[in-house]
Amino acid sequence: MFIPVILGTAREGRRSENPAKYMVEEVKSFGAESELVDVRDYLIGRTDASGETPQAKKFIEILKRSDALIIVVPEYNHGYPGELKIMLDMAYNEYAGKPIGICGVSVGPFGGMRVVEQLRQVVIEYSMIPIREAVYFGNVGKLFDDSGTITDASYHERAQKFIANLKSSLK
Ligand SMILES: Cc1cc2nc3c(=O)[nH]c(=O)nc-3n(C[C@H](O)[C@H](O)[C@H](O)COP(=O)(O)O)c2cc1C
Repeated sequence: MFIPVILGTAREGRRSENPAKYMVEEVKSFGAESELVDVRDYLIGRTDASGETPQAKKFIEILKRSDALIIVVPEYNHGYPGELKIMLDMAYNEYAGKPIGICGVSVGPFGGMRVVEQLRQVVIEYSMIPIREAVYFGNVGKLFDDSGTITDASYHERAQKFIANLKSSLK
């Protein structure tokens, strides 16, 4: 089982990198394969849904190999980063029928609750199957220490349940 983790912001100084790397390790500890898919490696500047750019080809190959997806996304003015949407719109058919879990990130206590809800609406249009559960990385500035290690051990159980739910949504 291959579950890549998309890191949904290219912002300089982004804090979402720690939660995204954490989720890659959680997928591996669940017993599945994973890798980080960093939106920074897929920047094309404007929407191009042709599937013909080198970035799109690379992304589509990852999607074809994947059984399910995880997106780790920060909340920007209650929405998702534009670069994430441009990246996701580079593909379409390859998403169909795949389960997806969304993790929100914010410096505040709500952990990107609103962006998780918004992104669910988008992934339904790709014919993906969003799971009900989410992992919310609230207070992200304090949640990881300087070495990028999570400081709240309870996230492990939460993340494992989330991944188990993703797996149980597989056809
Ligand atoms: C343009 C912008 C808009 C933001 N809007 C929100 C917001 O609506 N709600 C929120 O909780 N945090 C908001 N934040 C703060 C993020 O929660 C914070 O940057 C956090 O570290 C996650 O994003 P990062 O991966 O870019 O660091 C915003 C940050 C930026 C850069």
